[in-house]
Amino acid sequence: MPNKNEKIFVCQKCDAQSPKWSGRCLNCGAWGTIEESIANKSPENKQPIHFSEKNLIDFASIKKEEFPRLLTKISEVDQILGGGIVPGSLILLGGEPGIGKSTIVMQILKNLAINAPTLLYISGEESATQIKMRSDRLNYDGKNLKFLPETNVAEICGAIEKIKPTLAIIDSIQTIYTDQAVGERGGVSQIRTATTQIMETAKKTNVPVILIGHVTKDGSVAGPKTLEHLVDVVIYLEGEKFQDLRIMRSSKNRFGNTNEIGVFEMTELGLMEIKDPSRIFLAPNFENIAGSVVSATMEGSRAFLIEVQSLVTPTIFGYPQRKCSGFEITRLQMLSAVLFKRASLNLNTQDIHLNIVGGFDVSDPAIDLPVAMAIFSAFKNQPVDRQTIYLGEIGLGGELRPVANLEKRLAEAKKLGFATAVIPEMKLVKDFGLKIVKIKNIKEIQN
Ligand code: TYD
Ligand code: MG
Repeated sequence: MPNKNEKIFVCQKCDAQSPKWSGRCLNCGAWGTIEESIANKSPENKQPIHFSEKNLIDFASIKKEEFPRLLTKISEVDQILGGGIVPGSLILLGGEPGIGKSTIVMQILKNLAINAPTLLYISGEESATQIKMRSDRLNYDGKNLKFLPETNVAEICGAIEKIKPTLAIIDSIQTIYTDQAVGERGGVSQIRTATTQIMETAKKTNVPVILIGHVTKDGSVAGPKTLEHLVDVVIYLEGEKFQDLRIMRSSKNRFGNTNEIGVFEMTELGLMEIKDPSRIFLAPNFENIAGSVVSATMEGSRAFLIEVQSLVTPTIFGYPQRKCSGFEITRLQMLSAVLFKRASLNLNTQDIHLNIVGGFDVSDPAIDLPVAMAIFSAFKNQPVDRQTIYLGEIGLGGELRPVANLEKRLAEAKKLGFATAVIPEMKLVKDFGLKIVKIKNIKEIQN
């Protein structure tokens, strides 16, 4: 344990501590991020322990409290939050710059303004006129909204306490600073201390706060990742791969499910919900191409239809290549080995390319069968029926294993007009109006 007031050196990027200064952090490899700090918590000034009986609560006497949640009336957002915003909660909204974080919060404010008497927007990032331009674009006249250009966390917490808004927005954590911590603005110790202070204020005043945080492309720099454990709810807004498409997902939620996702499109009038996302992930031209197979994957509690595409070409030189996008390479290697051994498909002299259309990243085992089918279809140059979806996990023996949430996946397929589902041997409790074909082993795809 360091002695009282002993100097330590802390990396502002990863928070690693060391007794010596160096130009490069030995932990994360970043240059010029080490700063001097003072080790506190020395044994001499340890707090004396004390306990007061009156703080002890008889647990059985606590009344069940029904806290009314604040509905944003953007149904995808409400669903991700587990049914609306819980009073006094701190929600971290992360995403790359320019993805639409400020836009979505402005849309939430616009919807809340109908009933909420006061809303507070605190920005250290943009001026009032810049924000006004955005709200104009979203057809929000700023009703019931107060704007505070501020970066000092003490002032921000003071404002929340005094104004007691229905919802407060802080845009963004990287611009906030606190006198209670050392380091530069946006550094790990600064944003952590500031977030803790904001959390305390939210809990004390029962005002829900949405805290915006930027994530850089490599996802590293001091940002939302280091704050995840401090807040109640973590939501990420992602995009890029899908151009105008934005996917919102929660990775932590103390008041609801995680891994719920919402799909939006960035339009001239802000982020619009896409109620039927499966249509977007499926290729619009329903033409039979060899190597193209449709399946359904789960994201949170929702099923999505996705298209798996494969290209199989003879290896020209050296080892056969296995390449994929949106799918795990080791899984592809395993599946091609299983196809070779159990379905007598000679893939040893073939390069395999695999792609999940639309940039979706899938790690769902139910996608094994469609991947195997796509490879099979590409290899044989035989298109697969476009009205059929495939689902099933494949074991090393080539056996098909049951998939989770089969009913939801089949319902989604039916909704989008599919006629047949090829699935593993498993009991179906409901008739979805789909023709069901059950297969036990991957060798049956030869037929
Ligand atoms: P913004 O919310 O400012 O991103 P962030 O706060 O995450 O950095 O949104 C940035 C982009 O969104 C910007 O390029 C403009 C675009 N945009 C639209 O396409 N339509 C709109 O209605 C609005 C408000 C923004
Ligand atoms: Mg912004």
